[in-house]
Amino acid sequence: MAEENKENIESNNKGNGDIVTLKNLTKRFGDYVVLDEISLGIEKGKTTVVIGPSGCGKTVLIKHLLVLLRPSGGEVYFKGQRIDNLPEQELNKVRMQYGFLFQGGALFDSLSVVGNVTFPIVQHYEITDWKKVEELVASKLAMVGLDGFQNYYPANLSGGQRKRVALARAIALSPEVILYDEPTTGLDPIRSDIINELILKLQRELGVTTVVVTHDMTSAYKIADRIIMLHHGKIIADGDADHIRNHPHPIVQQFINGQVGEDDLAVLRASGTLTQSQFLPRDFKE
Ligand SMILES: Nc1ncnc2c1ncn2[C@@H]1O[C@H](COP(=O)(O)OP(=O)(O)O)[C@@H](O)[C@H]1O
Ligand SMILES: [Mg+2]
Repeated sequence: MAEENKENIESNNKGNGDIVTLKNLTKRFGDYVVLDEISLGIEKGKTTVVIGPSGCGKTVLIKHLLVLLRPSGGEVYFKGQRIDNLPEQELNKVRMQYGFLFQGGALFDSLSVVGNVTFPIVQHYEITDWKKVEELVASKLAMVGLDGFQNYYPANLSGGQRKRVALARAIALSPEVILYDEPTTGLDPIRSDIINELILKLQRELGVTTVVVTHDMTSAYKIADRIIMLHHGKIIADGDADHIRNHPHPIVQQFINGQVGEDDLAVLRASGTLTQSQFLPRDFKE
């Protein structure tokens, strides 16, 4: 088993253009195993999309990339440095290199747009030159198409605009990696597509590494260089959009076609129809 794991890690992380690496990452809450020995390299400058039904562990997975959750087992590396065992103070330095668009994209309601976008800057730096900060905020807002909205409050913005302000806040410290958790959830198709375009634009213009959690397949196909599907704590599919579209695993097909709900999936899981032969070799290395 140890040998097999070693092979698994090596094959998942070959090339070493990886900025973040998970090695045999396990996360349990009590007896409940959410992530089960996951090994994964996040390639620098690319967009990796994590899909899977709600509750499968997508948010838990991406929180481990910046160690907002500590693993129960396994390791997390950022640029080759092991980070899962660092003290909080050291971790905060690492976390400054991440932008995180949380699920729901929550803004501080009591702060204006400018207050929200400057928040991470004020948290991490002693500001002496407010003029520079103003310019910085204007440039971040321009990137999401909202320069001029500095003095608005979240209550006066639409859902899509609030997401975009949250995005401007996420890029305030010019992060190397941006994590998006369900960025299009709750938006209509047009506003969702604006977010997709923004994700692509930021990746192109800032050269950032992007990780997106979503169950919106239109969005996944549009933005992903690589799509990973989680199921029962494991990665059951891993490849580009075409690989996922044509994937033989019935759970993958049902998920991407939106054919069944969680209850049906539970029945399917219990029916014992899933065998290893339904995995493509590159998806299943154990
Ligand atoms: N802090 C926590 N304590 C206990 N269970 C948790 C915690 N966070 C997440 N979970 C559980 O882990 C599982 C995966 O959650 P999550 O990653 O949020 O799923 P999703 O794929 O919808 O993002 C869920 O069953 C959830 O209830
Ligand atoms: Mg989630």
